Amino acid sequence: MTDQTITSVSREHRVFRPSAEFKAQANLGSESTYKRLYSESVNSPEKFWDRMAKEHLVWRKPYKKVLNWKPPHAEWFVGGKLNVAENCLDRHLGTARENKAALIFEGEPGDVRTITYKQLHFHVCRLAQIFQNMGIGKGDRVAIYMPMIPEAVMAMLACARVGAIHTVIFGGFSPEALKDRINDCQAKLVITADGGWRRGKVIELKANVDRAVEGTPSVHTMMVVKRCGNPVTMVEGRDVWWREAWEGAPNYHEAKAFDAEHPLFILYTSGSTGKPKGVLHTSAGYLLGCKMTSQYVFDLKENDRYFCSADIGWITGHSYVVYGLLSNGATIFMYEGAPNQPEPDRFWQMIDRHGITILYTAPTAIRAFMRWGDNFVLRHRLDSLRLLGSVGEPINPEAWMWYHKMIGKKRCPIVDTWWQTETGGIMISPLPGVTPTKPGSATKPFFGVAAKVVDDQGKEVPRNTGGKLVLTQPWPSMLRTLWGDDDRFKRQYFSEFPKHPDYYFTGDGARQDEDGYFWIVGRIDDVLNVSGHRIGTAEVESALVSHPAVAEAAAVGRPDELKGQALVVFVSLKAGHTASDELKEALRNHVGKEIGSLAKPDTIRFAAALPKTRSGKIMRRILKDIAAGATVKGDTSTLEDFSVVASLQSEE
Ligand code: WTA
Repeated sequence: MTDQTITSVSREHRVFRPSAEFKAQANLGSESTYKRLYSESVNSPEKFWDRMAKEHLVWRKPYKKVLNWKPPHAEWFVGGKLNVAENCLDRHLGTARENKAALIFEGEPGDVRTITYKQLHFHVCRLAQIFQNMGIGKGDRVAIYMPMIPEAVMAMLACARVGAIHTVIFGGFSPEALKDRINDCQAKLVITADGGWRRGKVIELKANVDRAVEGTPSVHTMMVVKRCGNPVTMVEGRDVWWREAWEGAPNYHEAKAFDAEHPLFILYTSGSTGKPKGVLHTSAGYLLGCKMTSQYVFDLKENDRYFCSADIGWITGHSYVVYGLLSNGATIFMYEGAPNQPEPDRFWQMIDRHGITILYTAPTAIRAFMRWGDNFVLRHRLDSLRLLGSVGEPINPEAWMWYHKMIGKKRCPIVDTWWQTETGGIMISPLPGVTPTKPGSATKPFFGVAAKVVDDQGKEVPRNTGGKLVLTQPWPSMLRTLWGDDDRFKRQYFSEFPKHPDYYFTGDGARQDEDGYFWIVGRIDDVLNVSGHRIGTAEVESALVSHPAVAEAAAVGRPDELKGQALVVFVSLKAGHTASDELKEALRNHVGKEIGSLAKPDTIRFAAALPKTRSGKIMRRILKDIAAGATVKGDTSTLEDFSVVASLQSEE
């Protein structure tokens, strides 16, 4: 990491104070309340979390101890028992929320479904029974590869209800990527759909699963939702239609209680080595984190209609479509398709049509909306909106200002929320009505979040100096380990600072300004953030070298106006292969096949050789400069052969 990159983040001095109107109705209306609670949460965490766990969760059996922290392993609410699905559904039955909409769904073709809490509970109970009949229960892994349709939410909650561990795999991943993930966690059941709608076309999900399960001996059952009606092949004895499985299934299900630390889900995410990491989250702590952050960061009110545009295949969809919102009894709006189908004003149309009050989306989407033009926005009133959120990557001040003016009409507070798959829930974010915001800053830590910017030794750096972002205390919704690889968990997150084995390293660079506000710069490890999706450079490289023409490959990020980062790969070819546009296309498709189209390189550059150190390590820092079209900076003395760099630069 270079300090240069970190301090070069634009200095932004505009401050937006909460309006008196918003403040008056906010769930946490004053800065002094935030300060008092925050200070308690980090100084007496056990006392604080004990109170919160009692206030926010429904327990079947009380816990004996709030925290057992043996770095890097944490156990929260030791000895307590609860059922996560009950906490999301049953608790609302018999209250005024029973007949409230839990989900309002709009499909890409325009079909709309509304499902109340009572109805969602009914579906989830029936599905839980079906799982039990299939022999799926406590601790079994279930893979979910589905479009954004209500059945996906039902599937997740039914897993939680029977104590099965779900692993949702984003529908954009290829059969190959799906196979690796299913094999890693040994899933027995896969839930999918015939297809999903995207930009007017059917994404053939079932066909992808068919290809994946050719190599996954653990899978014995596949449940298929009929969504698009595209033709599929059903394998006798293995595949069952969702509808048919429902016939005759009892719709009453007595839920068991599970340990607070019972695994809830595994979510695969990219890391700095080739193999994706199975981030493991458990029950009570995770749910508490999601529930509280939803309530305070989104200032949830009984009448809100909340729209998070993330797919459930990502952590944002887990925490802020499903668990955090349903546990609060909120109404979630769920959209299946693309934001520009049929026209680039689809979101704004839906906001007006359904009276959506809160919108949570990603900077990359905001930048696309900006590019599509204001006219698409100005056709709509957007007067139901009262709060806006951003997640997934740093939001540039221009995009923030556009969001504020065009979408929020200068009326809606913006919460720029920093967090990660590993943190389970939002960690750094303004609290609306409380925290004055600065465009581009995620502002202040949430309760219980001990965030610091430190140097390479783990020592806190002075204000306005760049450094590594660490979390120095455990928090309830933190990941517990990596599935099947506890050593990697330790190495990856808790070994950056040998003197501080209890510091969690985020992989992000940041600085704190004079007011203590956090400015996140982005990843400083070998992970890229392309359109808000995490992509490991090593994954892309190993996909490339598995192509017969490729000798060596290096993947780096290049700043991109729309995507945040674009993926640039440098490839050297094996003897007998020649560089050509056809080969470029073949390599792009190869990466698409190995990982998924989200990882297809934006630019492929052929190189006679890659710049390396004398010990043979590829010098990515140099490639990054070349990819960005900048002159190669910094120390090149360890470079084995400078002519490699000279020839790469002269090609531009
Ligand atoms: C980046 C998504 C700046 C960051 C919830 C982090 C952000 C990675 C922000 C995690 C933000 C996420 N400002 N950067 N508001 N939110 N990031 O696991 O680099 O998909 O480490 O989780 O996204 O990505 P992940």
